Amino acid sequence: MKRVAIIGGTGDQGLGLALRFAQANVPVIIGSRDETKANIAVEQVQESFPQADIKGMDNNAAVENGEIILLSVPYKYMADTIKSIKSELTPDKIVVSLCVPLANAVGGRPTQVVSPWEGSAAEQAAAMVPKGVPLVGAFHNVCAARLLDIENTVDNDVVVCSDDKDARQEVMALADKIDGVRGLNGGNLCNCRIVESMTALIIGMNIRYKLPKGMGVRFTYLY
Ligand SMILES: NC(=O)c1ccc[n+]([C@@H]2O[C@H](COP(=O)([O-])OP(=O)(O)OC[C@H]3O[C@@H](n4cnc5c(N)ncnc54)[C@H](OP(=O)(O)O)[C@@H]3O)[C@@H](O)[C@H]2O)c1
Repeated sequence: MKRVAIIGGTGDQGLGLALRFAQANVPVIIGSRDETKANIAVEQVQESFPQADIKGMDNNAAVENGEIILLSVPYKYMADTIKSIKSELTPDKIVVSLCVPLANAVGGRPTQVVSPWEGSAAEQAAAMVPKGVPLVGAFHNVCAARLLDIENTVDNDVVVCSDDKDARQEVMALADKIDGVRGLNGGNLCNCRIVESMTALIIGMNIRYKLPKGMGVRFTYLY
């Protein structure tokens, strides 16, 4: 099984995914700008899953040792983070963008998105990674609080988009490992424009329906 490295794995979304992958016996590296912080997050995961195959590393070592690299930092820091790990990104790795370009990154509202020139945060990331590195967009519409709540199963579909069909399939299979999650084929990377926007919609609905842990997304009549 490929090792997942989560850049920004100390944050809510990254730690939530680390817990769920650990639960599913997927090998994980938690990446951070600060190795000590990464190791604290590892201990948090091990408290719930002592047998987990999980390590903490600084972001560069995490990319070097990981095979599926999840970019789990706020959109505001996405470009700088990609620049800082670029030298370790090789075409044998898959990069997965979770980043949602919420307008609060530029002083706006978290219920709206800004539109990067490339069309979406994922397409912007694709333009920044070295040539030949497959870029996938996924895990945008699953709330961190649901991932972190390990007493309960996650009830969510994860739309996976990429121009690289093999990478897309791999990440769909990875999403499927999380109990209660279905990885769905979202087609080409440009569809992240829609999927990323859906997160802003969900954030607004969470406020209106007073759902602190957030709502999930399900596509019906599929199978
Ligand atoms: N939270 C959600 O429910 C949710 C849902 C869907 C998608 N997402 C997406 O997932 C990504 C992560 O969200 P999050 O809520 O986990 O974010 P977060 O907790 O605010 O931050 C994640 C990590 O980013 C790193 N970071 C913080 N400031 C940084 C900086 N100046 N430069 C570089 N790295 C920095 C930190 O890691 P270190 O300090 O350890 O380096 C931090 O733990 C975002 O792009 C978000 O849009 C989140």
